[in-house]
Amino acid sequence: MQNRDVIIACDFASADETLHFLDRFCDERPFLKIGMELYYAEGPEIVRTLKNRGHRVFLDLKLHDIPNTVKKAMRVLSGLGADIVNLHAAGTRAMMEAALEGLTRPDGSRPLLIAVTQLTSTDQSAMEHELLIPRQLDEVVIHYAKNASAAGLDGVVCSPLEAGKVHSACGANFLTVTPGVRFADGDKGDQKRVTTPGDAKLLGSDYIVVGRPITSAADPVAAWQRCVKEFC
Ligand code: C5P
Repeated sequence: MQNRDVIIACDFASADETLHFLDRFCDERPFLKIGMELYYAEGPEIVRTLKNRGHRVFLDLKLHDIPNTVKKAMRVLSGLGADIVNLHAAGTRAMMEAALEGLTRPDGSRPLLIAVTQLTSTDQSAMEHELLIPRQLDEVVIHYAKNASAAGLDGVVCSPLEAGKVHSACGANFLTVTPGVRFADGDKGDQKRVTTPGDAKLLGSDYIVVGRPITSAADPVAAWQRCVKEFC
């Protein structure tokens, strides 16, 4: 898989904090994830800033609205130059197809578009009793991944533990972008089902998303390099 890479989750509250963190990397330009906290704090300028500094950017805003609204919002995000963007597969195929339309630039290029299936914070009980979906969680995850694939999306966010099943259901080229990664000798934090970078590679993840094991490390650059060495 030629695209395998480590994406650092920049879960910082401000551009200042983010740039201070990135200054440690000197000439290296890791792939970065910008989530809602940083995006809502700094607005689209943070994407332009990181792109201008030479980083690839996964903009993790998880859109979910009516198709027309998502299409127009995706057009804006595409114009920022993000490399990967995402949405909730629960928005239905019509929404995912509209998103792809909005993302496609006049020259035909577009960011990769991936879907969140079920959030890992949603468990079987909440899905059954609050969302009234009376099926097994892993069955729902794979079904939503297939919907995303049928809509023309490029992949899903999932656990490395689900990467094999997703590839079996949706094809080897359908991307699996996987958080929940920890070093074998590291702290799990609030992640429950964790996988090492090496195991994520064996399980077939295409990209691992790693936050605190890098951002909270005493030496973040060394921690990132260790991830790259174990995973890529
Ligand atoms: O610090 P940590 O490595 O746990 O960060 C993981 C990143 O991936 C965070 O930005 C978190 O919001 C995100 N994420 C996740 N689990 C999901 C979806 C996204 O941990 N199911």
